[in-house]
Amino acid sequence: MILVTGVSGVLGGLVHRRLADAGLPVLAGSRTPQDGGRRIDFDEPAGLAEAFAGVAVLVLVSAGYAEDDVVTARHGAVIEAAVRAGVRHVVYTSLAASGERMTIAPPHRWTERALAAAPLGWTVLRNGLYAELAGGLAAAGAERAAAEGVFRLPWGRGTLPVVAREDLADVAATVAREVQEALVAGRPVPHLGRTYELEGDAVVGGAELAGALARALGREVRYEPSPLGEVWDALREGAAPYQVGHAVSLHSNVASGFAVAGPSDLPGLLAAEPRPARELVEAVVRESVVRESVRREAVAG
Ligand SMILES: NC(=O)c1ccc[n+]([C@@H]2O[C@H](COP(=O)([O-])OP(=O)(O)OC[C@H]3O[C@@H](n4cnc5c(N)ncnc54)[C@H](OP(=O)(O)O)[C@@H]3O)[C@@H](O)[C@H]2O)c1
Repeated sequence: MILVTGVSGVLGGLVHRRLADAGLPVLAGSRTPQDGGRRIDFDEPAGLAEAFAGVAVLVLVSAGYAEDDVVTARHGAVIEAAVRAGVRHVVYTSLAASGERMTIAPPHRWTERALAAAPLGWTVLRNGLYAELAGGLAAAGAERAAAEGVFRLPWGRGTLPVVAREDLADVAATVAREVQEALVAGRPVPHLGRTYELEGDAVVGGAELAGALARALGREVRYEPSPLGEVWDALREGAAPYQVGHAVSLHSNVASGFAVAGPSDLPGLLAAEPRPARELVEAVVRESVVRESVRREAVAG
């Protein structure tokens, strides 16, 4: 049996659907389980081992939206419970090398180490930054771009390597399936103890994001690099402290040229060509602009 955590989230949901569609025995793990799913809340360690009963392959989708100590406590509790429940293999969705210097990295590397020290099999999938994330940053600047023809982001001339989240889901599902099939057949387990770098081959910078906005809005949009301090100001109200740290660190890494992808294992693990991540960025921006204009029309009556 395979269990995927975080199935109400986008990545976990995609991985679970792929495995279910392939006819594999797979359980949906969530804090809010639907019919037949199992309740998995990493913040409630007491119930985890029971929830993992009968599971051979656990797809552990990181739960990184919190302060570092909370994230490591979550992932540590999952690994401990997986060992207690007799889980044979954990597939963990981690962070690619392009994010190594970002503040989101330490809990991922901590989890990788904890897995390496645990008495079970594991595979680490070091996921690149989602194209959807870059698209979301551009979409957040749509209102100003529409009004002033300017898109501001503290990226200087830096760029971010991006990847399609669907490709990452494909790889996670393939690895989980192949591990499960080998365990059932008593064959040597593929991907055992392997760490894969799953970077996309597309990069986007401020100018590309401004271009995507220009096409979505049907007007000229100029990219204007902004000071990093503006991010603190913009997020001061309404964002959790860790979100401010994560955002500033992402922008700082891009601007200083540290968000760079090394060699990627992605093409070798996909059955098809990687999805064109730049087109995805465009699609996210376009859809968000359309959604916003529909909302405005509805409000205007
Ligand atoms: N590579 C990137 O660009 C990137 C960007 C953002 C985030 N991430 C990381 O990748 C993960 C998956 O990305 P995503 O796009 O699927 O994010 P998402 O859509 O926000 O989903 C995150 C899911 O994590 C699960 N989760 C949160 N807190 C949990 C807890 N205490 N116990 C168990 N599960 C918990 C939830 O699933 P349920 O509601 O079903 O419990 C939630 O829906 C994120 O959680 C984050 O760690 C990566």
